[in-house]
Amino acid sequence: MGRTTVDVHLGMDDIDKALRLDVAAGLTAVPKELPPKWFYDERGSELFDEITGLEEYYQTEAERQILLDNASMLIATARPETIIELGSGTSDKTRAILDAAVAADLRRFVPLDVSEAYLRTSVESLAEEYPSLLVHGVVGDFDHHLPYLPSGDRQLLMLLGGTIGNYRPAERHVLLWAIAARQQPGDHVLIGVDLVKDVARLERAYDDASGVTAAFNKNVLQVVNRQLDADFDLARFDHVARFDTENEWIEMLLRSTADQRVRIEALELDVAFAAGELMRTEVSAKFRKERFERELRAVDLEPVSWLTDRAGDFAVSLSVRR
Ligand code: SAH
Ligand code: AVI
Repeated sequence: MGRTTVDVHLGMDDIDKALRLDVAAGLTAVPKELPPKWFYDERGSELFDEITGLEEYYQTEAERQILLDNASMLIATARPETIIELGSGTSDKTRAILDAAVAADLRRFVPLDVSEAYLRTSVESLAEEYPSLLVHGVVGDFDHHLPYLPSGDRQLLMLLGGTIGNYRPAERHVLLWAIAARQQPGDHVLIGVDLVKDVARLERAYDDASGVTAAFNKNVLQVVNRQLDADFDLARFDHVARFDTENEWIEMLLRSTADQRVRIEALELDVAFAAGELMRTEVSAKFRKERFERELRAVDLEPVSWLTDRAGDFAVSLSVRR
């Protein structure tokens, strides 16, 4: 069994405060919006896991294929002593990289996620599977807690699963900048991105036949109900997923099926929804190589490899800090 440690930068109080701020701002904005990080309570993380196994959601298997096919080359290039994974979830695909890395110089793995229960489970199983590794979990928000990540060592920082796509361009620039700013020259960054493709296929990936993505989307309302004593009626909201061709992103929204008022008791807030009104819960940007590599160069990350799966659906980009 490898050694484990878990730092908690997001306790119940911090989560409560951050959720209050996001819900107060998001439900009084025009149009209304909730940030996607609130999908991931225990139920939301389970639903995301289910999504990754859906036939319509090609991304997870495509990225796994890329990582399996290229792990040795990636590790030989980056030669990490420490690997950091942001938004690690179950770190399932990450094992392809860890297998190659522990056979080389890796001594420490640092998964960071907002979902404490999932992170703790994954830290325990990784330590069992990789007895030579120090597994240092961090419960945190990568919008705020990157400065608390361990420094030192030759580092590889990974952000897999297309999570970078859940940021709009301006926020994405800030996140990429914060990532680059904490890396030392010569450290590497590995980012998975979903690629622009046929619109019908993209929309199916976010509106699957069995309704798992719809349940994932509506779960954010359950989170607000439970945490902030709200009375959202999930039956009065429909799941909507559509591709915005101008911005090249999928938007997930919740459409109110009726004129209704929702009470958020903990905020002493009443919110009116009109029938047909849309509230955005997520964007999921789809990328092209040139644009993404330009975004990397803008923050002093020099692209080294652009790897795609055989079908050309998904890409993993390796870059090095200048
Ligand atoms: N990397 C995994 C999981 C992707 S799902 C994969 O490729 O399959 C996105 C993950 O990021 C979830 O585990 C979620 O809890 C986490 N997450 C979302 N927003 C976050 C944030 N702001 N800070 C930290 N983790 C976040
Ligand atoms: C985590 N993230 C990259 C997923 C995505 O595809 O944007 C979240 C998700 N939303 C709906 N399905 C999956």
